[in-house]
Amino acid sequence: MGKFVEVSKIGELKEGAIKAVNPAGREILLARVEDKYYAADNRCPHMGGKLAQGKLEGTVVTCPLHSSQFDLSNGQVVRWLKGAGLTSKLGGVLKRPKPLTTYNVKVKEDKILIEI
Ligand code: FES
Repeated sequence: MGKFVEVSKIGELKEGAIKAVNPAGREILLARVEDKYYAADNRCPHMGGKLAQGKLEGTVVTCPLHSSQFDLSNGQVVRWLKGAGLTSKLGGVLKRPKPLTTYNVKVKEDKILIEI
């Protein structure tokens, strides 16, 4: 069990927003969906795309590099790469789908804390 560290204030993250935070030198993304907060690795398990720069739809984030999608509520792969192009096929062969590491989040007063 890790310890909870503050990564943001509630007012700093709007509904539907996603941002990168760096507690203890780690690259983690923080997202707010319908007043719930989610935290996960900011680096895509495929080739390290920065997921905080991706698109958030509900709790699903789309990687800005090759469009893999992950559910931030559990880290599960929703889609591994996009389309049937050569890059996608090679990427799929070279790297098997891997879930995203997620982190426990809690809110205390006006602070958002992540367990790391
Ligand atoms: S780096 Fe994210 S899908 Fe390739």
